[in-house]
Amino acid sequence: MLFALIPILFMRIHSIYSNIRTIDDCQLLIVGGTTSALGAALSASKILNTRTCLLEPTDWVGGQLTAELLSAPDFAYHTIKDKDTNFTLDVGAIDGQLDNQNLLFAHMLNVLGDTGRCWVSPKCSIPQLFHSQVVLPVISNVRIFYNTVIKRVAKDVTGRRIIQVDAIQRTTNLTSPHCRFLSEELSDWYSSDDTTWFNKTQLSFRNVSFVIEGTSWGEVLVLSNASYIQGLMEQFDGDTSGVGNSTCGQSFTFDFLEQLRETPVDELPNPLPEPTGGANYSFESLTWERIWTYRRVNTSAPDSNTIAVHDLTIQNWAGGNDYRNQYFFLSPSDTRHQRDIDQWQGGLNLDAIKNAERLAYGYHYWYRKNAPTQWTNRTVLIRSVSAAGTCHGLAKMPYLRESRRSIGYQNFLMNITTISGHARDLHGYIFDDRLCVGAYNVDIHSMGQCTYPSYMHENYPILPYYIPLRAMTNRDVDNLIVIGKTMAQTFLVNSATRLHPVEFSIGQAAGVVGTYAVQNSLQSVAEMLEEQHIKRVQTIVKQFTPTSWTINGTRYPDD
Ligand SMILES: *[C@@H]1O[C@H](CO)[C@@H](O)[C@H](O)[C@H]1NC(C)=O
Ligand SMILES: *[C@@H]1O[C@H](CO)[C@@H](O)[C@H](O)[C@H]1NC(C)=O
Ligand SMILES: *[C@@H]1O[C@H](CO)[C@@H](O)[C@H](O)[C@H]1NC(C)=O
Ligand SMILES: *[C@@H]1O[C@H](CO)[C@@H](O)[C@H](O)[C@H]1NC(C)=O
Ligand SMILES: *[C@@H]1O[C@H](CO)[C@@H](O)[C@H](O)[C@H]1NC(C)=O
Ligand SMILES: *[C@@H]1O[C@H](CO)[C@@H](O)[C@H](O)[C@H]1NC(C)=O
Ligand SMILES: *[C@@H]1O[C@H](CO)[C@@H](O)[C@H](O)[C@H]1NC(C)=O
Ligand SMILES: *[C@@H]1O[C@H](CO)[C@@H](O)[C@H](O)[C@H]1NC(C)=O
Ligand SMILES: *[C@@H]1O[C@H](CO)[C@@H](O)[C@H](O)[C@H]1NC(C)=O
Ligand SMILES: *[C@@H]1O[C@H](CO)[C@@H](O)[C@H](O)[C@H]1NC(C)=O
Ligand SMILES: *[C@@H]1O[C@H](CO)[C@@H](O)[C@H](O)[C@H]1NC(C)=O
Repeated sequence: MLFALIPILFMRIHSIYSNIRTIDDCQLLIVGGTTSALGAALSASKILNTRTCLLEPTDWVGGQLTAELLSAPDFAYHTIKDKDTNFTLDVGAIDGQLDNQNLLFAHMLNVLGDTGRCWVSPKCSIPQLFHSQVVLPVISNVRIFYNTVIKRVAKDVTGRRIIQVDAIQRTTNLTSPHCRFLSEELSDWYSSDDTTWFNKTQLSFRNVSFVIEGTSWGEVLVLSNASYIQGLMEQFDGDTSGVGNSTCGQSFTFDFLEQLRETPVDELPNPLPEPTGGANYSFESLTWERIWTYRRVNTSAPDSNTIAVHDLTIQNWAGGNDYRNQYFFLSPSDTRHQRDIDQWQGGLNLDAIKNAERLAYGYHYWYRKNAPTQWTNRTVLIRSVSAAGTCHGLAKMPYLRESRRSIGYQNFLMNITTISGHARDLHGYIFDDRLCVGAYNVDIHSMGQCTYPSYMHENYPILPYYIPLRAMTNRDVDNLIVIGKTMAQTFLVNSATRLHPVEFSIGQAAGVVGTYAVQNSLQSVAEMLEEQHIKRVQTIVKQFTPTSWTINGTRYPDD
């Protein structure tokens, strides 16, 4: 009897727990696969003796560079001018100098070069190729858990330290795994149940020393009960109440790829209805052709003024697929509720996601139909897993312009006065704890029914600026490093730091911060603000990304 029983018991236990896997050798855990997270993984993996892992929600790592389908990166292009003297600073030109760039990012863009002859960026290339030929080779030695989302976070008894992160990884042997729209599939990502689409493994990361919040949606912030702000801020700069605005912020976009055919071709009619409340597509001040070449990623044409048959372009157009009617995130209270009942699904407004998908599809059909006669009905939406990454053609992940933002150590928020000023100032506020540089203007894609406080405008003269360690901290969770759009920054600062190269540089600095913290057995990220630490961290960071600006041959600051 006994002998018979043991295997049965064993089998039962096995069947219940077989899909839970404990992983206790990821000392630095990068949760999420944004452009910033990619930067962090790449610097951390170059530093010996720290076991680093990255959790990527899709099967393409890189966020806005890849899964969000925007391999047409935005660089600073603005100049600022002092009215009293007419002194002008060409911020775009300064940002473009090689000695001010992140060398790895520059290298990555050079691999494929500018195959699209687009006009938004010096380098536009095909998303799938960017992932397979640029990103995959550079991250080959990073331990990545693909198709993995986080589900819950556990802290130690002090409530200030993350010790465990639980995640769900999906596997499938279906040949077209991305045939459902995100709004249809998202709940499956976060469910531990096997479905006809995915089998699931529950991953439990234990023995974690430091965590990098590298998600697109600020999920670690919520799940670790860390203070954050979302959306508009009602008060200029220093509002650290953690309230923000639950329904108004930046609009978001589902990008997609189109190709131009030789002659008009039929497409199946739009399978999706209009978004709730309808759509109002517009070329705005541009022409059909200018939008075509705006983020074009492949062409045989000689320049950005010419269109050629077989051109491939990314559609990411404010008057087209920017979804402006509903906010991407649930309110903070609904978000907390989802966490507290252990039903975490990102804290997202699924209705907004669904409508944004419908808007994007509708825009494609509108754009195709409203072309100048010569091009009418000649564009097709690329619906292919190998090219767009999904068979419906919309990006795997929505292109977000903001996320949930940390409230930093001692209520720190990086504010607009530290990045703007007179042209004659040459550069932004030099933080003692600066870890990287960035440049871009304030870029707000407003939402439809929202009124923006009068100070929320785009006319701030943005200088070449610096990003401090404190922007990578959280006031409640000691071993959390926040990067990219989840940094401790105001709405306005986010609107000027949210672009690809800045996010990548922040990540590169954060990878150093994380490995340094692990190797020196620090208790908190803020401990690194002590002079003996920050100076050493800055010295290591400089090997990866500039911490000073070089302007007219002089370094600011010169250290
Ligand atoms: C847990 O982490 C510590 C320090 O980060 C490390 O020394 C130890 O080997 C880890 N334990 C396991 C089981 O991996
Ligand atoms: C600045 O430029 C404007 C236009 O060129 C000119 O009218 C003005 O006198 C200049 N101001 C100064 C201080 O040079
Ligand atoms: C899930 O796993 C089972 C058993 O290995 C397999 O038969 C099935 O095809 C898998 N499902 C998917 C969607 O991959
Ligand atoms: C899916 O995987 C299972 C094993 O997990 C295998 O038995 C089955 O044949 C696979 N199906 C396809 C279509 O590859
Ligand atoms: C989250 O933090 C707040 C304080 O910021 C506290 O009142 C609340 O009890 C915490 N909730 C959980 C679930 O830890
Ligand atoms: C803006 O940030 C600087 C540097 O951290 C700080 O000194 C200043 O008080 C902040 N301004 C406001 C209005 O919070
Ligand atoms: C549609 O968009 C155009 C151009 O942006 C604008 O002029 C018009 O007022 C909008 N119409 C509606 C109904 O929103
Ligand atoms: C990109 O364009 C070139 C011609 O310039 C062409 O040879 C190549 O096939 C195109 N690639 C794709 C994926 O469309
Ligand atoms: C484009 O296609 C639509 C739908 O098939 C058709 O109604 C329309 O007449 C076509 N336009 C041109 C200029 O071919
Ligand atoms: C968000 O901003 C809108 C105005 O744009 C306002 O009507 C609404 O009350 C604000 N909500 C919160 C929670 O502050
Ligand atoms: C850089 O030097 C040039 C030539 O000396 C000068 O015209 C320009 O104003 C300088 N720019 C800055 C930002 O100092």
